[in-house]
Amino acid sequence: MSRPKIALIGAGQIGGTLAHLVGLKELGDVVLFDIAEGTPQGKALDIAESSPVDGFDSALTGANDYAAIAGADVCIVTAGVPRKPGMSRDDLLGINLKVMKSVGEGIAANAPNAFVICITNPLDAMVWALQKFSGLPKEKVVGMAGVLDSARFRYFLAEEFGVSVKDVTAFVLGGHGDTMVPLTRYSTVGGIPLPDLVKMGWTTQEKLDAIVQRTRDGGAEIVGLLKTGSAFYAPAASAIAMAESYLKDQKRVLPCAANVDGAYGLDDMYVGVPTVIGAKGIEKIVEIELDKSEKAMLDKSIEAVKGLVEACKGIDGSLA
Ligand code: APR
Repeated sequence: MSRPKIALIGAGQIGGTLAHLVGLKELGDVVLFDIAEGTPQGKALDIAESSPVDGFDSALTGANDYAAIAGADVCIVTAGVPRKPGMSRDDLLGINLKVMKSVGEGIAANAPNAFVICITNPLDAMVWALQKFSGLPKEKVVGMAGVLDSARFRYFLAEEFGVSVKDVTAFVLGGHGDTMVPLTRYSTVGGIPLPDLVKMGWTTQEKLDAIVQRTRDGGAEIVGLLKTGSAFYAPAASAIAMAESYLKDQKRVLPCAANVDGAYGLDDMYVGVPTVIGAKGIEKIVEIELDKSEKAMLDKSIEAVKGLVEACKGIDGSLA
C-alpha cells in the first residue's frame, strides 16, 4: 500500500516544522508548497537528509506549482503572514484572505478529496473563507486552534501543580483570539475538575484566573519573545495530532474550529468546539452543557468571529 500524501501549503516556520514531524512520525510522504522559490525545495531536502540519521522513510519534495499536491490525502495550510509584536491576529485579515483564495483554488483543482487543516490566522475567519473558496465538504475543512490553546492551558496547569502534562486535560472553546473561552469546569488533573482542586487547596482562584488569562494571551507571549514571527513548534504539533487522527481513524476528541450548524445555537459558522476526528473528517461535534457565565463568554467570542467573517465579506464580494 502506498504511503499517505501530505501536502503542506506554506513552507515557512510552521510548514518546515510540520514536514519534520511528519517524517519523524512516519505519517506519510510530504510535498512542501510555497510561492517563495527554493524555500520548499531547500527545507524538503534538508529534512530528507536527516532521515538516515533518524531512520525514517518518507519522501520529501518541495514545489512552487500546485500540480505537485495532486491527490494529497491531507493538506495543512500555513500560507500567509504571521504577526509581529503589537499586532493582533485580526490585523492579518486583509493579506491572508487573498492568500486563502489562491490556496482554496489550488486545493480544489488538485486535491479535492483531502482533509484540509487551516492554521493561518485570524483562524476562524480564514478557515471559513478557505472552505468557501475551495468548495470542499465542510466536514473535511477544519481549523487548528483548540488543540494548541488547550495544550498551552495544560502546560501552564501542569507547571502550577507540579504534575505530568499527560495527566492534565483542558478544554478551550470559542474563537482563536482574545475572547477564547478556557473552561475550568471541564479541565481536570487526573480526572479531578479544576474548581475541586481549588477547594482542595492545590491552588487559589486568583492563580487559576491568571493561568486562564495567560492561556488567552499565549500566542502574544511568544510573539513578544520572538519579535520576528509567531509560535511554530506547538502549532505544528497540534495540527499533526489532528492529521494523525484523520489518517489513522483514531476518532480522537479534539477541540477544533469546525463548521457548526445547529449545535450551540449556531447557524453554519466556524468556531472552536469539541469534535471527533476520524476517517470521514469531522465526524461529530460534541455539544456540552454551559452555565450562564460560560455561555456569555462563548457568545462574546462568537460575536468577535462573526465580526471577522463580515469583514471578509466586505473585502471579497464573492464571499457575501
Ligand atoms: N501561497 C503559498 N505560500 C504563501 C503565500 C501564498 N499565496 N503567501 C505567503 N506564503 C508563504 C510564505 O512564503 C512563507 O514561507 O507562507 C509562509 C508563511 O511562513 P512564515 O512567514 O514563517 O509564517 P508561520 O510562522 O509559518 O505562520 C503561518 O500560521 O499561525 C499562523 O499567524 C500565523 O498566519 C500565520 C501562519
